[in-house]
Amino acid sequence: MKIYVINGPNLNMLGIREPDKYGNTSYKELCALILEHCEKCGIEPLLYQSNHEGDLVDFIQRAYFDGACGIVINPGAYTHTSIAILDAVKSTMLPTVEVHISKVEEREDFRQVSYIRSACVKTITGHGIQGY
Ligand code: DQA
Repeated sequence: MKIYVINGPNLNMLGIREPDKYGNTSYKELCALILEHCEKCGIEPLLYQSNHEGDLVDFIQRAYFDGACGIVINPGAYTHTSIAILDAVKSTMLPTVEVHISKVEEREDFRQVSYIRSACVKTITGHGIQGY
């Protein structure tokens, strides 16, 4: 069972960026935790991070062509702006979970819009890196 775990812009800065909001765990450590958990569950994760919208679209599409079972995605700030990422997720028809480390619903007004949400089977916010 293959699952694509995709992280958007600035999530490579985990552990450095705004630790009060995103915690002290680095992106590398997050990847190690996901790999460890998936191994226990017999899931094959493919981890990807990009700061570029088009790269994220390419990788979402790859999940479809690669026969993945589902997608876990934290689109970062593209959550609030990207119709291209929404369309890409819809085009895969794969069950997709939207993850946010912080509790976005309690933050600024501009974070209250999520374009991707309507294409997701579940949204997880505010559980830190455990949300993944
Ligand atoms: C985030 C929330 C977004 O609003 C923000 O732009 C991020 C991270 C989160 O994980 O809480 O980059 O997706």
